Amino acid sequence: MNLILQAEFIAPDIKKFVIAAPLIARKAKPGQFVILRVWEKGERIPITIVNGDPENGTVTLIIQGLGKTTRQMNMLNSGDYVHDLVGPLGQATHIENFGLAVCVSGGVGTAEALPIARALKEAGNTVIAIIGAREKALVICEAEMRTICDEVIITTDDGSYCTHGLVTDVLKTVIARNTKPDFVLAVGPLPMMRAVSEMTRPFSIKTMVSLNSIMVDGTGMCGGCRATVDGKTVFVCVDGPEFDGHQVNFDEIARRQKQFANQEKISAEIINKEPQKVLHQCRLAKAINEISKS
Ligand SMILES: Cc1cc2nc3c(=O)[nH]c(=O)nc-3n(C[C@H](O)[C@H](O)[C@H](O)COP(=O)(O)OP(=O)(O)OC[C@H]3O[C@@H](n4cnc5c(N)ncnc54)[C@H](O)[C@@H]3O)c2cc1C
Ligand code: FES
Repeated sequence: MNLILQAEFIAPDIKKFVIAAPLIARKAKPGQFVILRVWEKGERIPITIVNGDPENGTVTLIIQGLGKTTRQMNMLNSGDYVHDLVGPLGQATHIENFGLAVCVSGGVGTAEALPIARALKEAGNTVIAIIGAREKALVICEAEMRTICDEVIITTDDGSYCTHGLVTDVLKTVIARNTKPDFVLAVGPLPMMRAVSEMTRPFSIKTMVSLNSIMVDGTGMCGGCRATVDGKTVFVCVDGPEFDGHQVNFDEIARRQKQFANQEKISAEIINKEPQKVLHQCRLAKAINEISKS
């Protein structure tokens, strides 16, 4: 079990956790993720390691409460335990000095782009971050990105903060500048990553996307995260999560992402009705509680 040392909401339904996990913290590299279980019989979900701090033995995760498991997780607070974290999983991002690197992120994808932007900057790149969110309240990691990047451009779908529009509108203007990007990373919803890849394709700009396929074991055994890249089958959990956006079969991933839509809907209805009832308390925590009462 892993102790939660800090937990705070940084935006509506988006919570940042600092969790004790010394072995993972020691090995974590940008682009890698953990698979966590909130409780013993809980679902296993992949979450990106935003920061690994080997000195303090902690990892930072930023989680958007979307469905049952992420919302269960976001009910936990400092002093609570996560049942287990497995990681670091996946391939670390390939970092080199490309020249001008652009990190395009949408929603909670900005948390996933943050360690990669930092590593690109440390490797000598000029880094531009293009951050998109539905509205002002959902813009996350802005201050951190501003300390790392040479330029940060924010867009909101409703125009409530900075530029009104989509990240692709901004990317178009960045590509049209005198200096064309040498590398683009896109992290966020599938339609956004697909649109970014289509925008950079005619300019032959190297474009990596972080695929968010459904994962179960995270070790290449179950096949749940299967995707097709350049006509070949890959397992996103072990071969990725980042792939060449110009080679990804996005239609297939979009179809596979919807395969549990009915079960997700039922779970969401249960958690909407009785949120506290589904927050499992682990047996050890229960036992400690009972002993302390007797
Ligand atoms: C490599 C990777 C890194 C990720 N990093 C983050 C992160 O840092 N922060 C964050 O908030 N989210 C992250 N996600 C997405 C997160 O895993 C899903 O939001 C979460 O699994 C949803 O589970 P749920 O039960 O709350 O919602 P559900 O209602 O079950 O699902 C909501 C949506 O989440 C996706 N999803 C559901 N189950 C899984 C699963 N087992 N694996 C992957 N996707 C699933 C599906 O697209 C689904 O439609 C990441 C996903 C991947 C693949
Ligand atoms: S999650 Fe099972 S093979 Fe990738």
